[in-house]
Amino acid sequence: MEKYIINGGKALHGEVEISGAKNAAVAIIPAALMVDGVCHIENIPQISDTDMLLTILKELGAKVRFLNKSTIEIDCTKVRYQDAPYDLMRKIRASYYLIGAMLGRFGSAKTTMPGGCNFGVRPIDQHIKGMTALGADVDVKNGFVYADARDGKLHGARIYLDKVSVGATMNIILAAALAQGRTVIENAAREPHIVDLANFLNSMGADIRGAGTDTVKVNGVDRLHGGSYAIIPDQIEAGTYMVAAAATGGEVLIKNVIPRHLECISAKLRETGTIVQEYEDSVLVKGASSLRKVNIKTLPYPGFPTDMQPPMGALMCLANGTSVITEGVYDNRFKYTNELRKMGAEIQVDGRVAVIEGGKRLTGAPVHACDLRAGAAMVIAGMCATGTTVVEDVRYIERGYENFVGKLKALGADIECVDEPEDSDSSDKILCVC
Ligand code: EPU
Repeated sequence: MEKYIINGGKALHGEVEISGAKNAAVAIIPAALMVDGVCHIENIPQISDTDMLLTILKELGAKVRFLNKSTIEIDCTKVRYQDAPYDLMRKIRASYYLIGAMLGRFGSAKTTMPGGCNFGVRPIDQHIKGMTALGADVDVKNGFVYADARDGKLHGARIYLDKVSVGATMNIILAAALAQGRTVIENAAREPHIVDLANFLNSMGADIRGAGTDTVKVNGVDRLHGGSYAIIPDQIEAGTYMVAAAATGGEVLIKNVIPRHLECISAKLRETGTIVQEYEDSVLVKGASSLRKVNIKTLPYPGFPTDMQPPMGALMCLANGTSVITEGVYDNRFKYTNELRKMGAEIQVDGRVAVIEGGKRLTGAPVHACDLRAGAAMVIAGMCATGTTVVEDVRYIERGYENFVGKLKALGADIECVDEPEDSDSSDKILCVC
């Protein structure tokens, strides 16, 4: 079992290159299943979530070849329908995209019910509503999702999402891309990775318009052909390094980013007194000698991203004054605050609101990465604390941050990953599945 050992007190300095977006890659890899040809995909992040999805695709019969560390070729022309592999599927939340992709390609899908990082209840009712509207019978039984197109093929429909959902928007886009006729998704999510999925599918011959707005129109096509595509940079990975630079009082040039996707994070950091300078495809973050408190409310894009909430929570512990975080997406995404308290943070949580009394000195402690972004928050806190912090359960972090330790060390952090023998049954434990 790997842990990170962090000796705090080193400001980050230098340059860091951002990898491809996790939440785009985890939909684009399943989308490749719908393509009748070879997909050449660049900027695949090397993280355990993408490894897992590529393994699932291979088990389904896809040919997957790495051309270099971040470029793959996926050939699904010979894939025939089979149930998705249960043991792998249950370990990753994004496996729900196999429902849309398999329904689109085969008119049938049997997958496991996705789990989820424990941020409260995370239903998939809007995914099911969408598939049902497209003409599928969907049944959820004993932890499995069974979906079958009633007449062997999906048909376009008008779908209003009762809740703005990234996953449901992308899953319905996938299923509708090969359906007969036109699908209109209203109250759609607008995250950059939704635009990226639509651009990927369009470059393979799909006809999807309006991605990035709250109304997405999908004109179904008969076939998707092979092609080349490069995934956008990861908004949340970039935001995490921005916060880490601000928290440690360092100066970091964050390269390979789309500054427009980072606007709300840049704006909040500027409110703290941090300097953020935007360039064409990079941002420079210079930490302030003293940080001001800020309030944030997380919302679907273009609001402040819920995935940046834990790293910002760590930063607010250092800012002078009382900061308030309101979590607008999940019921319960404050478990990490218990870990921050172990380091001396003063945080009160009431439902979806956390009140942080900042300006307290953090001290190193043994803490857990409760989930992917909570783990990043603990690493940031550890880099700012006096003494040594040991972060356990770092497998959560490695689901979503490529070479986190290597990139932080290159910026001057004193962080090591150490490996300890694992409990006999922990390798099969279901991790946070984001
Ligand atoms: N929701 C429903 N019904 C649904 C779907 C969602 O009630 O059918 C609710 C959820 O319970 C939640 C809210 O709607 O309260 C938003 O959920 P959404 O569907 O947008 O999230 P997701 O697709 O499950 C993805 C990312 C998350 C990220 C969210 C929000 C993946 C694999 N996961 O989850 O990423 O927090 O969108 O942006 O893409 C992470 O990267 O750390 C992570 C957790």
